[in-house]
Amino acid sequence: MKKAIIIGATSGIGREAAARLVKEGWQVGITGRRKEALASFKEEYGSAVHTATMDVTQAEATEALDRLIEEMGAPDLFFYVSGVGYQNRELDLDREIRTVKTNSEGMVRMVDHFINYVRAHQEIYNQAHKAHVAVISSIAGTAGMGTAPAYSATKRMVQTYLSALVQLCRMEKYPVQFTDIRPGFVATDLLNPQKHYPMLISREKAGDEVMKAIRKKKRIHTFDWRFRLMVFGWKCIPRWLWERFTWVKN
Ligand SMILES: NC(=O)c1ccc[n+]([C@@H]2O[C@H](COP(=O)([O-])OP(=O)(O)OC[C@H]3O[C@@H](n4cnc5c(N)ncnc54)[C@H](OP(=O)(O)O)[C@@H]3O)[C@@H](O)[C@H]2O)c1
Repeated sequence: MKKAIIIGATSGIGREAAARLVKEGWQVGITGRRKEALASFKEEYGSAVHTATMDVTQAEATEALDRLIEEMGAPDLFFYVSGVGYQNRELDLDREIRTVKTNSEGMVRMVDHFINYVRAHQEIYNQAHKAHVAVISSIAGTAGMGTAPAYSATKRMVQTYLSALVQLCRMEKYPVQFTDIRPGFVATDLLNPQKHYPMLISREKAGDEVMKAIRKKKRIHTFDWRFRLMVFGWKCIPRWLWERFTWVKN
Protein backbone atom coordinates (compact mmCIF):
# COMPACT_ATOMS: atom_id res chain seq x y z
CA MET A 1 0.00 0.00 0.00
CA LYS A 2 1.44 3.36 -1.05
CA LYS A 3 1.68 6.11 1.55
CA ALA A 4 1.29 9.87 1.26
CA ILE A 5 1.55 12.73 3.73
CA ILE A 6 -0.31 15.91 2.85
CA ILE A 7 0.59 19.07 4.73
CA GLY A 8 -2.57 21.21 4.62
CA ALA A 9 -5.42 18.83 3.86
CA THR A 10 -8.22 20.16 6.10
CA SER A 11 -9.96 21.91 3.18
CA GLY A 12 -9.76 22.83 -0.49
CA ILE A 13 -7.25 21.27 -2.86
CA GLY A 14 -5.39 19.34 -0.14
CA ARG A 15 -8.58 17.72 1.14
CA GLU A 16 -9.65 16.84 -2.40
CA ALA A 17 -6.24 15.25 -3.11
CA ALA A 18 -6.38 13.28 0.16
CA ALA A 19 -9.82 11.90 -0.69
CA ARG A 20 -8.66 10.87 -4.18
CA LEU A 21 -5.58 9.10 -2.82
CA VAL A 22 -7.58 7.18 -0.19
CA LYS A 23 -10.06 6.10 -2.88
CA GLU A 24 -7.12 4.86 -4.99
CA GLY A 25 -5.96 2.67 -2.09
CA TRP A 26 -3.25 4.85 -0.54
CA GLN A 27 -2.65 5.26 3.16
CA VAL A 28 -2.80 8.99 3.77
CA GLY A 29 -1.50 11.18 6.59
CA ILE A 30 -3.31 14.53 6.67
CA THR A 31 -2.36 17.64 8.61
CA GLY A 32 -3.54 21.16 9.36
CA ARG A 33 -4.36 23.39 12.33
CA ARG A 34 -8.09 22.52 12.44
CA LYS A 35 -8.50 19.40 14.61
CA GLU A 36 -12.25 19.04 13.85
CA ALA A 37 -11.64 19.03 10.11
CA LEU A 38 -8.96 16.33 10.49
CA ALA A 39 -11.28 14.24 12.68
CA SER A 40 -14.23 14.54 10.30
CA PHE A 41 -12.06 13.46 7.34
CA LYS A 42 -10.89 10.43 9.30
CA GLU A 43 -14.47 9.62 10.26
CA GLU A 44 -15.51 9.77 6.61
CA TYR A 45 -12.58 7.80 5.14
CA GLY A 46 -11.62 5.41 7.96
CA SER A 47 -8.54 3.43 8.88
CA ALA A 48 -6.44 4.41 5.84
CA VAL A 49 -6.27 7.92 7.30
CA HIS A 50 -3.77 9.18 9.88
CA THR A 51 -3.91 12.71 11.24
CA ALA A 52 -1.58 15.23 12.85
CA THR A 53 -2.43 18.72 14.04
CA MET A 54 0.27 21.20 13.13
CA ASP A 55 0.91 24.84 12.39
CA VAL A 56 3.66 25.07 9.77
CA THR A 57 4.68 28.52 11.00
CA GLN A 58 5.83 26.96 14.29
CA ALA A 59 9.11 25.06 14.79
CA GLU A 60 7.26 22.20 16.58
CA ALA A 61 5.54 21.28 13.30
CA THR A 62 8.55 19.11 12.41
CA GLU A 63 8.05 17.06 15.59
CA ALA A 64 4.40 16.49 14.66
CA LEU A 65 5.60 15.32 11.22
CA ASP A 66 8.09 12.90 12.82
CA ARG A 67 5.31 11.42 14.97
CA LEU A 68 3.07 11.01 11.93
CA ILE A 69 5.81 9.23 9.97
CA GLU A 70 6.50 6.98 12.95
CA GLU A 71 2.81 6.06 13.11
CA MET A 72 2.24 5.35 9.42
CA GLY A 73 5.71 4.49 8.08
CA ALA A 74 7.88 6.15 5.44
CA PRO A 75 5.79 7.99 2.83
CA ASP A 76 6.26 7.58 -0.92
CA LEU A 77 4.74 11.01 -1.48
CA PHE A 78 5.22 14.16 0.59
CA PHE A 79 2.80 16.85 -0.57
CA TYR A 80 3.07 20.44 0.75
CA VAL A 81 -0.22 22.25 0.13
CA SER A 82 -0.57 24.66 3.09
CA GLY A 83 -0.95 28.24 2.04
CA VAL A 84 -2.75 31.48 2.73
CA GLY A 85 -3.36 34.30 0.30
CA TYR A 86 -4.96 37.72 0.39
CA GLN A 87 -5.61 40.50 -2.01
CA ASN A 88 -3.86 43.19 -0.06
CA ARG A 89 -3.82 46.49 -1.84
CA GLU A 90 -3.83 48.22 1.57
CA LEU A 91 -0.56 46.43 2.45
CA ASP A 92 -1.92 45.17 5.76
CA LEU A 93 1.36 44.10 7.38
CA ASP A 94 -0.11 41.26 9.41
CA ARG A 95 -1.49 39.62 6.24
CA GLU A 96 1.72 40.09 4.29
CA ILE A 97 3.85 38.54 7.03
CA ARG A 98 1.41 35.70 7.70
CA THR A 99 1.61 34.88 3.99
CA VAL A 100 5.42 34.85 4.06
CA LYS A 101 5.47 32.66 7.16
CA THR A 102 3.01 30.07 5.84
CA ASN A 103 3.86 29.90 2.15
CA SER A 104 7.65 30.39 2.32
CA GLU A 105 8.96 29.71 5.84
CA GLY A 106 6.49 26.87 6.41
CA MET A 107 7.32 25.29 3.05
CA VAL A 108 11.09 25.43 3.71
CA ARG A 109 10.65 24.04 7.24
CA MET A 110 8.53 21.06 6.23
CA VAL A 111 10.10 20.19 2.86
CA ASP A 112 13.69 20.41 4.13
CA HIS A 113 12.81 18.40 7.23
CA PHE A 114 11.35 15.69 5.02
CA ILE A 115 14.38 15.65 2.69
CA ASN A 116 16.63 15.27 5.71
CA TYR A 117 14.47 12.36 6.82
CA VAL A 118 14.97 10.75 3.39
CA ARG A 119 18.75 11.29 3.63
CA ALA A 120 18.79 9.59 7.03
CA HIS A 121 16.86 6.54 5.79
CA GLN A 122 18.90 5.09 2.95
CA GLU A 123 17.58 1.63 3.78
CA ILE A 124 14.18 2.86 2.51
CA TYR A 125 14.93 5.44 -0.14
CA ASN A 126 17.47 4.99 -2.92
CA GLN A 127 17.85 5.72 -6.65
CA ALA A 128 15.46 2.83 -7.43
CA HIS A 129 12.89 4.04 -4.88
CA LYS A 130 12.96 7.81 -4.75
CA ALA A 131 10.77 9.89 -2.47
CA HIS A 132 8.37 12.15 -4.36
CA VAL A 133 7.98 15.71 -3.05
CA ALA A 134 5.15 17.76 -4.54
CA VAL A 135 4.38 21.37 -3.62
CA ILE A 136 1.51 23.62 -4.69
CA SER A 137 2.75 27.01 -5.83
CA SER A 138 0.50 29.03 -8.16
CA ILE A 139 0.36 30.79 -11.51
CA ALA A 140 0.67 33.90 -9.30
CA GLY A 141 4.33 32.95 -8.78
CA THR A 142 5.12 33.60 -12.42
CA ALA A 143 4.60 37.40 -12.24
CA GLY A 144 4.50 40.13 -9.59
CA MET A 145 0.82 40.81 -8.83
CA GLY A 146 0.12 44.33 -7.56
CA THR A 147 -3.05 43.18 -5.80
CA ALA A 148 -1.27 40.44 -3.80
CA PRO A 149 2.43 41.26 -3.37
CA ALA A 150 3.32 38.74 -0.65
CA TYR A 151 1.24 36.00 -2.24
CA SER A 152 2.85 36.27 -5.68
CA ALA A 153 6.35 36.70 -4.22
CA THR A 154 6.04 33.71 -1.87
CA LYS A 155 4.80 31.53 -4.72
CA ARG A 156 7.75 32.66 -6.86
CA MET A 157 9.98 31.67 -3.97
CA VAL A 158 8.44 28.20 -3.86
CA GLN A 159 9.15 27.77 -7.58
CA THR A 160 12.76 28.96 -7.35
CA TYR A 161 13.35 26.94 -4.18
CA LEU A 162 12.14 23.75 -5.82
CA SER A 163 14.35 24.38 -8.83
CA ALA A 164 17.32 24.77 -6.47
CA LEU A 165 16.38 21.57 -4.62
CA VAL A 166 16.16 19.62 -7.87
CA GLN A 167 19.70 20.69 -8.69
CA LEU A 168 20.93 20.00 -5.15
CA CYS A 169 19.43 16.50 -5.07
CA ARG A 170 21.10 15.67 -8.39
CA MET A 171 24.40 17.14 -7.15
CA GLU A 172 24.34 15.16 -3.88
CA LYS A 173 22.48 12.12 -5.25
CA TYR A 174 19.67 12.49 -2.72
CA PRO A 175 16.91 10.10 -3.86
CA VAL A 176 14.13 12.69 -4.19
CA GLN A 177 12.11 13.88 -7.17
CA PHE A 178 9.96 16.99 -7.29
CA THR A 179 6.69 18.27 -8.69
CA ASP A 180 5.68 21.94 -8.72
CA ILE A 181 1.91 22.25 -9.13
CA ARG A 182 0.69 25.65 -10.36
CA PRO A 183 -3.09 26.10 -10.30
CA GLY A 184 -5.03 29.01 -11.72
CA PHE A 185 -8.15 30.09 -9.79
CA VAL A 186 -9.78 27.20 -7.89
CA ALA A 187 -13.10 27.55 -6.01
CA THR A 188 -11.89 27.11 -2.41
CA ASP A 189 -11.99 29.04 0.88
CA LEU A 190 -8.76 30.81 -0.12
CA LEU A 191 -10.62 33.03 -2.59
CA ASN A 192 -12.69 36.03 -1.58
CA PRO A 193 -16.38 35.01 -2.06
CA GLN A 194 -17.26 38.61 -2.91
CA LYS A 195 -14.99 38.72 -5.95
CA HIS A 196 -15.33 37.41 -9.47
CA TYR A 197 -12.48 35.19 -10.66
CA PRO A 198 -12.14 34.53 -14.39
CA MET A 199 -11.81 30.92 -15.62
CA LEU A 200 -12.56 29.58 -12.11
CA ILE A 201 -11.96 25.82 -11.76
CA SER A 202 -13.95 23.53 -9.44
CA ARG A 203 -12.21 21.61 -6.64
CA GLU A 204 -13.08 18.36 -8.42
CA LYS A 205 -11.38 19.51 -11.62
CA ALA A 206 -8.37 20.67 -9.57
CA GLY A 207 -8.32 17.21 -7.96
CA ASP A 208 -8.13 15.60 -11.43
CA GLU A 209 -5.23 17.86 -12.40
CA VAL A 210 -3.33 17.29 -9.15
CA MET A 211 -3.70 13.52 -9.48
CA LYS A 212 -2.44 13.69 -13.07
CA ALA A 213 0.65 15.63 -11.94
CA ILE A 214 1.30 13.20 -9.09
CA ARG A 215 0.78 10.04 -11.13
CA LYS A 216 3.06 11.24 -13.92
CA LYS A 217 5.52 12.77 -11.42
CA LYS A 218 5.59 15.82 -13.67
CA ARG A 219 8.27 18.36 -12.83
CA ILE A 220 5.91 21.33 -13.34
CA HIS A 221 2.17 21.20 -13.92
CA THR A 222 0.16 24.37 -14.58
CA PHE A 223 -3.60 24.00 -14.89
CA ASP A 224 -5.86 24.17 -16.66
CA TRP A 225 -4.86 24.71 -20.30
CA ARG A 226 -6.32 28.26 -20.31
CA PHE A 227 -3.99 29.26 -17.49
CA ARG A 228 -1.06 27.59 -19.29
CA LEU A 229 -1.81 29.83 -22.27
CA MET A 230 -2.24 32.89 -20.06
CA VAL A 231 1.09 32.35 -18.28
CA PHE A 232 2.82 31.81 -21.62
CA GLY A 233 1.33 35.11 -22.83
CA TRP A 234 2.26 37.21 -19.85
CA LYS A 235 5.80 35.82 -19.75
CA CYS A 236 6.24 37.45 -23.17
CA ILE A 237 5.30 40.87 -21.81
CA PRO A 238 8.34 43.05 -21.01
CA ARG A 239 8.69 44.14 -17.38
CA TRP A 240 8.28 47.87 -18.12
CA LEU A 241 4.92 47.13 -19.74
CA TRP A 242 3.74 44.61 -17.11
CA GLU A 243 4.32 47.17 -14.38
CA ARG A 244 1.94 49.55 -16.20
CA PHE A 245 -0.98 47.04 -16.20
CA THR A 246 -2.79 48.87 -13.40
CA TRP A 247 -6.22 47.60 -14.52
CA VAL A 248 -5.39 43.99 -13.43
CA LYS A 249 -7.28 44.07 -10.11
CA ASN A 250 -7.75 40.35 -9.30
N1 LIG B 1 -7.65 28.43 -4.58
C1 LIG B 1 -6.91 28.94 -5.54
O1 LIG B 1 -7.39 29.66 -6.45
C2 LIG B 1 -5.44 28.63 -5.58
C3 LIG B 1 -4.73 28.97 -6.75
C4 LIG B 1 -3.37 28.70 -6.81
C5 LIG B 1 -2.74 28.10 -5.74
N2 LIG B 1 -3.45 27.78 -4.60
C6 LIG B 1 -2.71 27.19 -3.49
O2 LIG B 1 -3.29 25.96 -3.15
C7 LIG B 1 -2.98 25.65 -1.78
C8 LIG B 1 -4.25 25.17 -1.08
O3 LIG B 1 -5.16 26.24 -0.97
P1 LIG B 1 -6.73 26.07 -1.17
O4 LIG B 1 -7.11 26.89 -2.33
O5 LIG B 1 -7.09 24.64 -1.16
O6 LIG B 1 -7.27 26.85 0.11
P2 LIG B 1 -7.81 26.37 1.54
O7 LIG B 1 -9.04 25.57 1.38
O8 LIG B 1 -7.88 27.62 2.32
O9 LIG B 1 -6.66 25.41 2.09
C9 LIG B 1 -5.51 25.89 2.72
C10 LIG B 1 -4.89 24.78 3.54
O10 LIG B 1 -3.68 25.28 4.12
C11 LIG B 1 -3.68 24.97 5.49
N3 LIG B 1 -2.95 25.97 6.25
C12 LIG B 1 -3.05 27.32 6.19
N4 LIG B 1 -2.25 27.88 7.12
C13 LIG B 1 -1.62 26.86 7.76
C14 LIG B 1 -0.69 26.79 8.82
N5 LIG B 1 -0.21 27.90 9.42
N6 LIG B 1 -0.26 25.58 9.24
C15 LIG B 1 -0.73 24.45 8.63
N7 LIG B 1 -1.60 24.45 7.64
C16 LIG B 1 -2.06 25.64 7.20
C17 LIG B 1 -5.16 24.97 5.88
O11 LIG B 1 -5.33 24.19 7.06
P3 LIG B 1 -5.73 24.79 8.51
O12 LIG B 1 -6.50 26.05 8.28
O13 LIG B 1 -6.52 23.70 9.12
O14 LIG B 1 -4.43 25.01 9.19
C18 LIG B 1 -5.80 24.31 4.68
O15 LIG B 1 -5.76 22.92 4.80
C19 LIG B 1 -2.38 26.93 -1.20
O16 LIG B 1 -0.98 26.81 -1.16
C20 LIG B 1 -2.77 27.99 -2.20
O17 LIG B 1 -1.88 29.07 -2.21
C21 LIG B 1 -4.77 28.02 -4.51
